[in-house]
Order: sequence, then structure tokens, then C-alpha cells
Amino acid sequence: MRIITDIKEMQGWALKARELGQSIGFVPTMGYLHRGHLSLIEAARAQNSMVAVSIFVNPTQFGPNEDFTRYPRDLAADSAMAAEAGVDVLFCPQAEDMYPEGYTCYVEPQDLSERLCGQNRPGHFRGVCTVVLKLFNILRPHRVYFGQKDAQQFIILERMTRDFNVDIEMIRLPIVRETDGLAMSSRNVYLKAEERRQALALSRALGKAERLFAAGERSAATLLEAVQSELSAATLGRLDYAEIVDMENLLPLQRLDKPALLALAMSFGRTRLIDNTILK
Ligand code: PAJ
Repeated sequence: MRIITDIKEMQGWALKARELGQSIGFVPTMGYLHRGHLSLIEAARAQNSMVAVSIFVNPTQFGPNEDFTRYPRDLAADSAMAAEAGVDVLFCPQAEDMYPEGYTCYVEPQDLSERLCGQNRPGHFRGVCTVVLKLFNILRPHRVYFGQKDAQQFIILERMTRDFNVDIEMIRLPIVRETDGLAMSSRNVYLKAEERRQALALSRALGKAERLFAAGERSAATLLEAVQSELSAATLGRLDYAEIVDMENLLPLQRLDKPALLALAMSFGRTRLIDNTILK
């Protein structure tokens, strides 16, 4: 596996791969890899002749009071995992190369970025869209792999590629969970034992809503009531939002007569967890 930190070198690799007729599958990440990331790498491996993974803790998507500096980093473990998973190239750029002095251009997603996570993380999706578009231009992938875990992120990025006529296939893969149901996340390491235990309320609440939905319940208010009652068990948690929204525009739905996203965000101390399920 080749590790590249230089942007020009990365672009050269991608150009060469394209000239040789290779297909490039790309998995953008912020590192501290876990099985969720690995599921994306496996899919990329299966569908492309070359697999590229980026590891970059992107400063522009973190708010001033968020966890940018303490975000977990372990490049040695990440590169071992990536090599083992059959990754061809690992791209690990420096922040000062991605955003050199005098950097000015940002992608500004509109309405979608103000809903759900956007309510408490202003500027977050602007940073995500900007870095992902930059990575697309550097790695020139044919296909890109994302997790349903960050459902709003995928919906916004898919819209960005449509709006900017980016000719890349966007692929979304299911949430990978720990055996007890907790959605895998690089941020789970922050959780203290009791918080970790209470965080299971998130996946339990989703499961409860899924069962009610399967039994025919279509009222968002009724489903959200069931979700809230399950979440109230997490006494150490602070609910950020629990919403049932239209998959297309992320606006709240009253009745679930089209595909709906049930999305949750809850903070335990300074650790913010998200989880979701699609009800359709
Ligand atoms: P990161 O949180 O590292 O996630 C990278 C990718 O892995 C995202 O597409 C995310 O949805 C996916 N992922 C994370 N946990 C998952 C899980 N439990 N199951 C399945 N997929 C999972 O998302 C980002 O980084 C950044 O915002 C990024 C897109 C790299 C831009 O900086």
C-alpha cells in the first residue's frame, strides 16, 4: 500500500490510474478506522480495480467549541488496517496544504444544511462539502462510498454532486453496529462506561420505532413518542434532536406515506452521538 501526503503526487497517481483504464473506488474518512469504515473499503474493493482511502481530520467542518484538537488519531493503526483490507493508496494530506494561507473558496449548501445536525452545527456541512469536493478533484474517483450512519451528510453530498455536475457515482452503505447495537463511531472512545451503556438507548429507540412502523403505525407523533420514552432512560444524555423527516428535503413529516428518515442526536457530556434508520 502506498501512503501519499502530497496533493500533486496524489493527483499524479489518479491520472496515471485513469490512463491505465483502472477504476478508482474512494472512501473519504477522518481516520481512527473501525468496522464501519472497513465495510466501505470492502465494497470499494469489490467494485473497482483500485481503492483509495483518505484520512484527513478536516478543520473546516468543526465548530469552534467542537472536538477538532482532541479528535482521535492513530495513523499507524489506520495504515495497518487499510493495508490489511487491500487498500492501494492512503492519502493523508496536511491541513496547511489543503487550506494554505489565503484560501478563499467554500461550497455553501443551502436549506438542507440547516436542518437536523445543522441546527446545532452551523457551518459543519459547508466544511464537509468543501473538503469532499476538494478530495474529488485530487483523487478523481469513479465511485465514492459513504455510510448511512451520516445520513444527512450523504443526502447533502449527493445533492452537491448533482448541483455541480460531478460525474462520480455515490454509493451509500448500511450502518455497522457493535454486537449490542451501538452504531460504530470513532467518537465512541470518548464514552465513559456508564455513558456507553446508556448510549444503547439510541439503537433501542430506533428498533422500537421500526417495530411499530412494521406493525402499521404511520403517525410521526406516535412514533416519536415511543422514541422519546426509550431515550428518556439515558439520564446522562442530552437529546439534541429526534426527528422524522422526508428523505428528499429533510423537512418534518406528519404521516409516513413516503420514505422517511428517523434521525437522532444525543450528547453525553461533550460527546455527541448520532444514529438513524430509514422507515419505508
Ligand atoms: P468519518 O466520520 O471518518 O466517516 C467516514 C465514512 O464512514 C462516512 O461515510 C461515514 O458515514 C462512514 N461511517 C462511519 N461510521 C459508520 C458506521 N458505523 N457504519 C457505516 N459507515 C460508517 O464522515 C466523515 O468522516 C467526514 O465528514 C468526511 C466525509 C470524511 C469529510 O471530512
